[in-house]
Amino acid sequence: MPTPQAAETHDLRNVETPVLVLDQHRMDANIRRMRDQLARLGVAFRPHVKTSKSIDVVRRTIGAPTGPITVSTLKEAEYFAGFGFTDILYAVGITPNKLQHVFDLRARGVALKVILDNVEMAEALAAAATQRNASLDVMIEIDCDGHRSGVQPGSDELLYIAQRLAAAKLTLKGVITHAGSSYSCTSTAEIAAMSRQERDAAVACAQQLRQHGHGCPEVSVGSTPTAYFADDLAGVTEVRAGVFVFGDLVMSGLGVVQPQDIAVSVLTSVVGHQKEKGWTIVDAGWMAMSRDRGTSRQRVDQGYGVVCTLEGEILEDLVMVDANQEHGVIAHRSGDPKKAPALPVGTLLRILPNHACATCAQHDRYHVVNGRGVQVNDVWPRLQGW
Ligand SMILES: Cc1ncc(COP(=O)(O)O)c(C=O)c1O
Repeated sequence: MPTPQAAETHDLRNVETPVLVLDQHRMDANIRRMRDQLARLGVAFRPHVKTSKSIDVVRRTIGAPTGPITVSTLKEAEYFAGFGFTDILYAVGITPNKLQHVFDLRARGVALKVILDNVEMAEALAAAATQRNASLDVMIEIDCDGHRSGVQPGSDELLYIAQRLAAAKLTLKGVITHAGSSYSCTSTAEIAAMSRQERDAAVACAQQLRQHGHGCPEVSVGSTPTAYFADDLAGVTEVRAGVFVFGDLVMSGLGVVQPQDIAVSVLTSVVGHQKEKGWTIVDAGWMAMSRDRGTSRQRVDQGYGVVCTLEGEILEDLVMVDANQEHGVIAHRSGDPKKAPALPVGTLLRILPNHACATCAQHDRYHVVNGRGVQVNDVWPRLQGW
């Protein structure tokens, strides 16, 4: 199949839209900022690679050919194992139908760790490991903020799970938590408080396990907002941040990044207009942007994305107000047709996403540019699916 967006085009003005654009200059700055922050806090980094799903991005993130990573699918674990990564944490609760895959990866030398938050799954793991006479590294997920899954801090469930694992000679590696509630904070002070809450819950659970004779060497926390606003991570051994690498409008609405730090955008072409309505129609709809409307719950709703020039300069108050599968509708935030700028058919624009992970997931490659340049320096593939 021909690949019209291939590197040979060399220039964003020659590619067939829509495509995903990655500004390497901005990405490198985002990586530097997070690494500096974690170095200041004296804590190890286990980046979550679910945002980029790209070997080229992850190698730049860790500044080495391989290193500890967090994955959100076993497909990511397979992909990175293929590039020599061995220290991999699969940070979604394990299910029985994935166990064979997990044991296969471990048999190939990947020190894959799995997580769980209930006795049922601990028993299933114990049975599977005993049956195969195999070992497994396990972390217990803690619910630090009521956001999603995890054992409640202080509950007996934590000790019951640890006992089941110990009886089957499975290795309890530690505890893991993710303060997903940080995405709904309304001030940076609230994010800082959430960061302390995330740390305190994980450290307290690790201490509870140790007091009862269970080894619990690792205390893993992390989200991008709580990592950036952490002031002290005493007792924590590693941070798993992910979306920081690109940034997005949700992070910008939280005050975690500036809009001009956002490293990914979707390149799109103007298809036509509805002048009386002040609409400009483009060829990037929700297939290219995703349906994520994360900023709709924030103080400033950015629709399906903020509109920029081809070179990445934000066009003030111009947003994608609606999206069909392959059509996006661009209009002035006020809805006033007189304020809509003239954008002739064929004009190339770039749209900043609400949620980088979701938008990138719609695409199979990055067109890599630098700063305001339109030169495509590279095309980096990315993983999709499970
Ligand atoms: C378990 C877990 N750890 C870490 C992260 C990284 O969070 P962020 O993308 O905010 O850095 C996520 C994100 O969803 C997650 O689910």
